[in-house]
Amino acid sequence: MNSLGIRRPFIVGIGGTPRLGSTSEMALRHCLKAAEAAGAEVELIAGPAIELPLYDPVDPHRPPAARRLVQAIRRADGVILSTPAYHGTLSGMLKNALDYVEDLRDDPRAYFDGRAVGCIVCADGMQSMGTALVTLRSIIHTLRGWPTPFAAALNSAAKPFAGGGPLDEDVARQLAMVAEQVVDFAETRLIREMVEQERGEHQRMRAPAM
Ligand SMILES: Cc1cc2nc3c(=O)[nH]c(=O)nc-3n(C[C@H](O)[C@H](O)[C@H](O)COP(=O)(O)O)c2cc1C
Repeated sequence: MNSLGIRRPFIVGIGGTPRLGSTSEMALRHCLKAAEAAGAEVELIAGPAIELPLYDPVDPHRPPAARRLVQAIRRADGVILSTPAYHGTLSGMLKNALDYVEDLRDDPRAYFDGRAVGCIVCADGMQSMGTALVTLRSIIHTLRGWPTPFAAALNSAAKPFAGGGPLDEDVARQLAMVAEQVVDFAETRLIREMVEQERGEHQRMRAPAM
């Protein structure tokens, strides 16, 4: 329970590249740190953890890494996605990982339903930051998620992480804002759930005995 009387929201961060310590992975790590500081419980699923076989809707077999990913999203109150810009869009590796969200199609909360999804895009050029972000947000909309109003767009060429931390105030501020917006939305949903539950209990108590 936190100071609002609700459980800590669970936020899962997904992204990076096969290269450990890539810019998009570092950005995701720092964004999750900010989410933790804002009161969330977090899980990082990055780099090799999303190097999954091409999603096959017909074959029901899922490797452990895919099961971990789907389970984490199922449990999540919010999601943060981080991608490098590859040829003007998100990486194939992240897109393939997002294809596995199809396994949540028949869940009571299908796909990203009811979850805020924060975006981080890392690119060597301004143009691809914009186009990759637009595509990522379109995917989130399709998956019934709520892209946060603010997204972090980081210039990889400027090496935005130095000595294990954000290079400057601007990088830190962008990642903190994404984290705070995801956590705020998740907490709002949890408060609503609590109010609805209490209202239901109140109504049951007032119902005449049969
Ligand atoms: C296959 C590939 C395609 C890329 N396409 C673009 C691109 O279209 N626009 C751009 O600004 N950067 C592009 N880049 C650069 C990456 O966005 C950049 O290397 C990444 O954000 C940071 O690298 P890191 O995550 O390995 O540290 C590309 C890189 C690769 C490997």
